[in-house]
Amino acid sequence: MKTRFPLLLCALLMSIGIQAQTKWFNDKDLTLTGVYYYPEHWDESQWERDFRQMHELGFEFTHFAEFAWAQLEPEEGRYDFTWLDKAVELAAKYDLKVVMCTSTATPPVWLSRKYPEVLIRYEDGAIRDHGSRQHASFTSEVYRELAYRMIEELARHYGDDPRIIGWQLDNEPMVQYDFSHKAEEAFREYLRESYNNDIQALNKAWGTAFWSQTYSSFDQINLPLWNQWGSNYHQILDHRRFAAKQTNDFLNNQCLIIKKHARNQWVTTNYIPNYDEGHVGGSPDLDFQSYTRYMVYGDNEGIGRRGYRVGNPLRIAMANDFFRPFQGTYGVMELQPGQVNWGSINPQPLPGAVRLWLWSVFAGGSDFVCTYRYRQPLYGMEQYHYGIVGPDGVTVTPGGREYEQFIKEIGLLRKKAQEREVKPQDYLARRTAILHNHENYWNIDHQKQNRTWDTFDHMNKYYRTLKSLGAPVDFIYEDKDMKEYPVVIAPAYQLADKELTDRWMEYVEQGGNLVLTCRTAQKDRYGRLPEVPFGSMIYELTGNELEFFDLLLPEDPGKVVMDGRTYTWNTWGEILKPGKDSQVWATYEDEFYEGKPAVTTRRLGKGTVTYIGVDSTDGSLEKDILKKLYAMLEIPVMDLPYGVSVEYRNGLGIVLNYTDKPFTFELPEGSKVVIGSGTIPPAGVLVFRI
Ligand code: GAL
Repeated sequence: MKTRFPLLLCALLMSIGIQAQTKWFNDKDLTLTGVYYYPEHWDESQWERDFRQMHELGFEFTHFAEFAWAQLEPEEGRYDFTWLDKAVELAAKYDLKVVMCTSTATPPVWLSRKYPEVLIRYEDGAIRDHGSRQHASFTSEVYRELAYRMIEELARHYGDDPRIIGWQLDNEPMVQYDFSHKAEEAFREYLRESYNNDIQALNKAWGTAFWSQTYSSFDQINLPLWNQWGSNYHQILDHRRFAAKQTNDFLNNQCLIIKKHARNQWVTTNYIPNYDEGHVGGSPDLDFQSYTRYMVYGDNEGIGRRGYRVGNPLRIAMANDFFRPFQGTYGVMELQPGQVNWGSINPQPLPGAVRLWLWSVFAGGSDFVCTYRYRQPLYGMEQYHYGIVGPDGVTVTPGGREYEQFIKEIGLLRKKAQEREVKPQDYLARRTAILHNHENYWNIDHQKQNRTWDTFDHMNKYYRTLKSLGAPVDFIYEDKDMKEYPVVIAPAYQLADKELTDRWMEYVEQGGNLVLTCRTAQKDRYGRLPEVPFGSMIYELTGNELEFFDLLLPEDPGKVVMDGRTYTWNTWGEILKPGKDSQVWATYEDEFYEGKPAVTTRRLGKGTVTYIGVDSTDGSLEKDILKKLYAMLEIPVMDLPYGVSVEYRNGLGIVLNYTDKPFTFELPEGSKVVIGSGTIPPAGVLVFRI
């Protein structure tokens, strides 16, 4: 069966891609490279020397005022931007543009002392206090007002300044769980709105008939105590929605204030890629999403004995694929230049690893990459954290030299840069989406049913396979059009409704290939089981009925067999009763359901639905199923070893080697090596022109 999307898709991508590009960034630049600088940490007499060297190393922008609220507003209502003006001026002298920040992660002490109600309260009653950072609650109206006032002054001052290219809001804004009384009141207000002031609707949604939890008024509702055994999961789900909204609204309001004054400056923030936190992409007025990424901090998630010096091969790739689909572009705001200070151990990166990470960011289609930070701090929490230069402020670190090399390499490639969406057809043909909704993680993680179940790990088995097939992957939310993708995978998509299952049906009938996995569509959006046979929301799609599911002891896994090969499983297995038109691909090989189906596929309309009812121990079953599926669909795939990835952009192929052995890459016909060579050493990179 031929997939009918690729050609159309390519044309579509070209138009989307180019639109996304022209607004803020220029395709011909490939990527911009920048570095954090905190003028307030250093003697003013050194600033010029530092910017000069930054420029000589090739950096094109710097990043100011991230934690400087105390310097920007030394007393309530008295603003001082003179020092920052000087820094901007000097940076410009050395051709460095500036990313300006809103400083809201570090409110000054006068604020915490005068308005102590802004401080976050933990579930156990302890209060976060001044002396660290991120201690003020995004829910607090007082804090928000003070922040907005300061941001407005800053935006008025710099919004029309062409030396400022864009803005970063806050710092690594997270979803906060503030248990203060004000937060509780705000939660009640949120519920009143969500349930149209109808307490019976809330009682129904939360199933409060259970354990006598029924409410007669919104004023009786408390913030659910997460650490208290038996707290209502439906209530916790709403609490998480509420908390994510606080962060999203706060950021969005900051953005709108800046946009009142900003001309031709973008606004973003630097999220931590926590896929289940639920706020990335939730502030609609941000121009694009950026992330921070640290690769080497102790645990060995890499390959081989020295893998801890290189890091997890898919850590940057996954962040790229998660952040890019929101607006078609993304930037990386922080990437470590060397040792960090906060890991379990803080090893030196393997020589070459910093450059490998830079190319990994580039490979996903980023428009800029920025490193944390220029100078190693002399004091404070982050002593021992490497910079581009060491504590003397001038000696370039090994990571600093790798940045210099990367910037030079990009400079060379710019001479013949093509448009970003120039990519080979066979690569685009295997474009795959992973349908994501953090709420599935929230709900499943409170009710795993098996201590070995891991929602992220389940999804990652598919992601890792897709990368080994050389597929470009987009993580998408439900608001995206699935039709752009020949294959869509929805792993453990637990919370669903008819609207979603209808959309899935339409996608498949029109020629899409949908892969659903265990635990999908078993609950409604409140996390309740619908009053229908278990799992039956997707019977029409999959053609199967679900007899029951089983969970096994980790030390005694079960077996599944497909095409004569045996695989093990234990975290979740669904025993399926297939319909007449389903092909059974895998069956259980033991237990009292020996011989019964675990995996099925069927054609439906112009497309296919594959249902994978089991989570294998090591992902090898998932890998073989996807290979079989793409072969059936005649989608051309690669077979890359774990640790090697290939991506394309701007008419360039980028091959990254995170393994501990040299890897020889077979270059596509007609391509020309521009960086590296066909045999790529560990932590090495190959770039070729197609
Ligand atoms: C990041 C944070 C930075 C800095 C850095 C140190 O998570 O956003 O402000 O603290 O860690 O590695």
